[in-house]
Amino acid sequence: MAAGLKDKVAGEISSLGFKPRLDVVLVGENPASKVYVKMKNIACEKVGIESVKHSLPDTTTQEELLSLVSKLNADPAVDGVLVQLPLPKQIAESAVIKAIDPAKDVDGFHPVNMGLLLSGQPGLTPSTPTGVIAMLDSINFNYNGAKAVVVGRSNIVGKPLAIMLLQRNCTVTVCHSKTKNLPEETRQADLLIAAAGKPKLITADMVKEDAVVIDVGINRTDSGLCGDVDFDAVKEKASAISPVPGGVGPMTVASLMRNTLEAAKERRK
Ligand code: GUN
Repeated sequence: MAAGLKDKVAGEISSLGFKPRLDVVLVGENPASKVYVKMKNIACEKVGIESVKHSLPDTTTQEELLSLVSKLNADPAVDGVLVQLPLPKQIAESAVIKAIDPAKDVDGFHPVNMGLLLSGQPGLTPSTPTGVIAMLDSINFNYNGAKAVVVGRSNIVGKPLAIMLLQRNCTVTVCHSKTKNLPEETRQADLLIAAAGKPKLITADMVKEDAVVIDVGINRTDSGLCGDVDFDAVKEKASAISPVPGGVGPMTVASLMRNTLEAAKERRK
C-alpha cells in the first residue's frame, strides 16, 4: 500500500514541472530518529522530491535551531520543513513547532494546522494518523457509528487520530496511562488503535472477536523490534491487523511524501 501511495505521488510529481523540496532537520544522535530520517530521505529520492538534510549537534541551542527554521521559512526554494522529534532537553519542542511556517509544516504539528484539523477544515495533517486512515480506507472500514478505542494520547498520533475518527462518525474513546480499566475499554472496540509505546500492551483477552487492530507502536526490546500489540495471539481474534515492522511505519513515510507534494502545490500555485 505504501509503495502504491508513493507511486501515485511520484506520478503527480513527474507532471508538475518542478521538483518539490523537503528540508529535514535532525538534532543530536538519537538512533531511532536517524533511522526515521534516513527512511524519509530514501522515500524522497524514490518519488522525486529533493531532500536536504540538516544535521545539528546535540549541544545546539534553541536560538540556533529557531534561526535555522526561520531561514528555511524564508527560503522560497523550500516547500516543506520537518524537525525530527524528540529534541534534546535544552530545546522546547513547542517553541520550534510554533516557529515553522504553517504552509511548510508537512508534519501538521503547528497549532494552526492542529486547529484546522480540530475544526474540520482542510490543512496539512500529521503523517502517522493520516497513514492509519489510508489503511482503514483500503479495507473499506465502515467508520459510521463504529466504536473506536485509541490507546495513547500523544500530539503526534493519539489526539489527531481521535479527531480524524470522530470526523468520520466513529464513537471514539481515548485511553491512556491513567485509564482505570483498560481491558474493559479495549474489549468494546470495533476498531482498536494501539499508540502507547508499550511493548505488547494489547493482549488477546483485551480484543473483541473480529475487531480491526492497528498497531502504531514501535518498541526496541532485547528480543528485537515489536509493536504495542501481541501480534501472534491477537491475529487469531482480529478480522484485520497491522504488523510491526512493515505496517504503519511505511504508511507514515508515504503520507509525508503526499503532504510535501500538497504543500508544494499550494505554495506555488
Ligand atoms: N518523531 C516520531 N514521529 C515523528 C513524526 O511524525 N515527525 C517528526 N518530526 N518527528 C517524529
